[in-house]
Amino acid sequence: MSELSPSILAANFNRLGADIKAVEDEDIDMLHVDVMDGMFVPSISFGMPVIESIRKESNMFFDVHLMVEEPLRYIKEFVDAGADGITVHVEACEDLKKTIDEIKKHGVKTAVAVNPATDIERVYDVLDDLDMVLVMSVNPGFGGQKLMPETLEKVKKLVKEREKRSLKFKIEMDGGINSKNIEEVVAAGVDVIVAGTAVFSGDISNNIKHLKEVL
Ligand code: DX5
Ligand code: ZN
Repeated sequence: MSELSPSILAANFNRLGADIKAVEDEDIDMLHVDVMDGMFVPSISFGMPVIESIRKESNMFFDVHLMVEEPLRYIKEFVDAGADGITVHVEACEDLKKTIDEIKKHGVKTAVAVNPATDIERVYDVLDDLDMVLVMSVNPGFGGQKLMPETLEKVKKLVKEREKRSLKFKIEMDGGINSKNIEEVVAAGVDVIVAGTAVFSGDISNNIKHLKEVL
């Protein structure tokens, strides 16, 4: 069964605690936390102090998506701040293997993300070491974009590769997922569905109930 990981990038930061509580009240176990550095992506979101502060209020699994150039520099800081899982971009790491080892050393779940323009085969070498692969369905950097349907093909390839190699990693998709396309995303084989706008714009509780109907 697939699960939903709401992205707080689309939350109202003026009442972030209340928005997170509304998510947790809907029995959601995972929260997607987007960190942007203004280098790997054009925008800047938030960093460790925000994660540290919401960590005190929530028991959800913090799925921390680092849209950060050379994330190896910050793994320890994000684990200390409260990350339960860290996702780094294959395009952002000079030494991907070393970065993965650093995440594993800190005892949190390890994931690698792939941009729409990047071949999925780029992660095949490290699949044995991963708990999750994040297939980006938009160019990272901003919420509220439209899902690029061709990225679903990468999910299908990954499902086959996982089967072929008898591996257990999860497949996550991020960007532009809403109540209209979630069924197609699940059908392609996505295990963890990230949704920002579709969760946080309007009534959070109703949005989650609606999205969960197809999971
Ligand atoms: C995009 C971020 C996403 C974003 C998704 O760079 O990685 O997690 O918050 O937002 P929506 O669901 O609005 O596309
Ligand atoms: Zn994200």
